Amino acid sequence: MMSQITERAVSNQGVVVTGAGRGIGRAIAAAFVDAGARVVINDLDPVACAMAAEELGAIAVPGDAASADGVAALIDAANSALGDIDVFCANAGVAGGIGLHSTEKQWAQAFNVNVMGHVRAAQLLVPGWVERGGGRFISVASAAGLLTMLGSAPYAVSKHAAVAFAEWLALTYQHLGIQVHVVCPQWVETDMLDGARAMGVPVDPRIVITTDDVAQTLMGAIEQGEFLVLPHPEVAGYYQARASNPQGWIGQMNEMQRRFTP
Ligand SMILES: NC(=O)c1ccc[n+]([C@@H]2O[C@H](COP(=O)([O-])OP(=O)(O)OC[C@H]3O[C@@H](n4cnc5c(N)ncnc54)[C@H](O)[C@@H]3O)[C@@H](O)[C@H]2O)c1
Repeated sequence: MMSQITERAVSNQGVVVTGAGRGIGRAIAAAFVDAGARVVINDLDPVACAMAAEELGAIAVPGDAASADGVAALIDAANSALGDIDVFCANAGVAGGIGLHSTEKQWAQAFNVNVMGHVRAAQLLVPGWVERGGGRFISVASAAGLLTMLGSAPYAVSKHAAVAFAEWLALTYQHLGIQVHVVCPQWVETDMLDGARAMGVPVDPRIVITTDDVAQTLMGAIEQGEFLVLPHPEVAGYYQARASNPQGWIGQMNEMQRRFTP
């Protein structure tokens, strides 16, 4: 159930959610539709994109939300469909490789989708938002971007870059009316999580939440005007512990890593 304040904040707004054919993006798109927004659903998978759009009463714009050409085509099509884009949610993400020896291609793909897709969208949208005095950029990063991800170097490193880019956008444009949120969950029950389990990544079932949990936490953060969105609130404490005692934190993480891969 959407609060009246969130409804007022996003009702009738033009919203784009990338990678929204399934998973977290789909739940975020559904929450915006529920709040009265006009929503464009993007996904690389055209079938998932069309199905999600039909089920939610949104507009499907399939395609790549990472490459320069793909992002430009998405923003063009979304502008035509919506009139104007008020909210852009950069949610599309890839898991990347596994350890140190992830391939060049896996490193490049992680940076292309998890970081450069966000940068390219902001490059096209922010100047217009500054001119009209408002716009909202949502980055779906990960708790891996504040802490780390055991076992996956490209994911951990690219998600840190996504958080850093969102911070940079917020601190550079806040006074010009640009609102930025960075969403940093731990495990969420989606196909990406199934893929992680299949690759032997240690997943603690006690901290797996639903895609709706993530979407509702985001809508609460929009209402409160919060930059850092933590669907797992305990991540705030881990983030503080990492900052205040980096050596101790690395020791603890190393112990966990050794427990899972002796
Ligand atoms: N599932 C988790 O545990 C978890 C935790 C923290 C953060 N995240 C992040 O949340 C976001 C969504 O993850 P999810 O778990 O829903 O993943 P998912 O794999 O279930 O869904 C991601 C969707 O993005 C689409 N996609 C991938 N690359 C794309 C591209 N270049 N252009 C357009 N669409 C593209 C895929 O086709 C897929 O439909 C990702 O950025 C992910 O890193 C996930």
